[in-house]
Amino acid sequence: MLLRGGALAGAGVVAAIGGAVVGDDIGAAGASRRAEAFYGAHQGGVVTDTQRHTVLAAFDLANAERSDVVALLQAWTQLGAALVAGRSVTVPIHQRPAAGGYAARAGSAAAVATASASYADTTAPSTTDDSLEAYGLGPQRLTLTVGFGAGVFTSAEGGDRFGLARRRPPALVELPRFSGDQLVAADSGGDLYLQACADDPQVAFHAVRAIARIAPDLATLRWTQLGFSPSNLGGTPRNLMGFKDGTMNSNVHPPPDLETVLWAGAEGPGWMRGGSYLVYRRIRITLEHWDRLAPHLQERVIGRGKLHGQPLGGRDEFDPIDLDARDGEGNPLIPATAHVRLAAPQSNNGAVIVRRGFSYNNGTTPFVERWPPWRQGLEYDSGLLFLAYQRDPRAAFIPIFARLAENDALNQFTTHTASAVFAVPPAASGPGDWIGRALFS
Ligand code: HEM
Repeated sequence: MLLRGGALAGAGVVAAIGGAVVGDDIGAAGASRRAEAFYGAHQGGVVTDTQRHTVLAAFDLANAERSDVVALLQAWTQLGAALVAGRSVTVPIHQRPAAGGYAARAGSAAAVATASASYADTTAPSTTDDSLEAYGLGPQRLTLTVGFGAGVFTSAEGGDRFGLARRRPPALVELPRFSGDQLVAADSGGDLYLQACADDPQVAFHAVRAIARIAPDLATLRWTQLGFSPSNLGGTPRNLMGFKDGTMNSNVHPPPDLETVLWAGAEGPGWMRGGSYLVYRRIRITLEHWDRLAPHLQERVIGRGKLHGQPLGGRDEFDPIDLDARDGEGNPLIPATAHVRLAAPQSNNGAVIVRRGFSYNNGTTPFVERWPPWRQGLEYDSGLLFLAYQRDPRAAFIPIFARLAENDALNQFTTHTASAVFAVPPAASGPGDWIGRALFS
């Protein structure tokens, strides 16, 4: 209230006209003014060049009805467009009519009295004001990517929650359990997915925070995960294992045939055309263990050179992988269990995923070894946020990773601790359109 009535409103920073989100461009001298497109054929954040930071978030549609989900997606889109443009925003708090709605379900007179004023805070009137922590930072190449989990179509009990069960794309499958999976349920799954990527960490977090404020009791945060990627001064970004990651078939170096391998086409429901399917895996890497392996042996695990990223037997990072190359004794130069040999399209009937990787660092966790030499200490909870976009996970991630999970030498150093699959629909075409409109119409 203070801000909107005070100096900032006087400067014309924030204004709400008929509920629309409007505002001035924000950006101080030197701030990144580069904005990514929000509207178009495809959502941003899929093939967009990797930003420095990401905040991933999944929401459960706890108490929502179909009309709430429609209103939410309209509000997410409206707010998302303003955030990506780098504008200071008015948060369009979603309020369901009090009678028979959330307020009635809350069950107390006090809740009824206050819930009509706000979903964000049942003890005080809500504010739609921008929280302003991104004020002055500019667009920072923010992208927002929205996805639908299986729960948008069917409840956990198999019920038709929002009348959309028949519209569930066959490609939106549950993943099988893979060998070695150690998935934490609380960090996995979710009904709605929101991926914010930006060159500034606070811009990315602000976007998720603002969108989560729209209706926290209807779209309840299930999990969030922060990630980062180095600046591109060193070429293809390196992951925490120290290797260039994204040399081939990634958003950094995309395959030429995106229409074939990435974007959904006529094989599925019309509302997904131009969209894609995301498989998210949080993969913890035992960095301490990895750091004890000599670099030339690390190269045999990956199948590429550590410094330059060339395939073993090749010279340049972008040389084709020669799986038949052998040394003088007839041994394959790229070992049978090397990661790139097993993951390459040549070994998977041409199957391709478009990878978009971020590293993560969730701090440390204690470990204890109760055998000689007895020791205890802390180990990193760090690794890779593996975002694989594809046209159909049944023909891409699932067969590729089924093979990797059995034989990949990398498995000695990695553990998959979180997982989710989302249908990522096409973008809103322009102002007035909203993400998911074709699904709900
Ligand atoms: C912590 C886990 C992982 C690490 C550190 C890692 C690292 C790498 C590295 C260094 C490369 C070579 C550079 C490049 O081509 O980009 C690569 C390639 C690749 N990785 Fe991974 N990876 C991991 C997990 C996975 C998983 C779970 C899959 C699942 C399908 C996968 C699929 C691929 C594919 C398809 C390629 C490209 C192969 C090609 O097109 O030649 N990776 N990865």
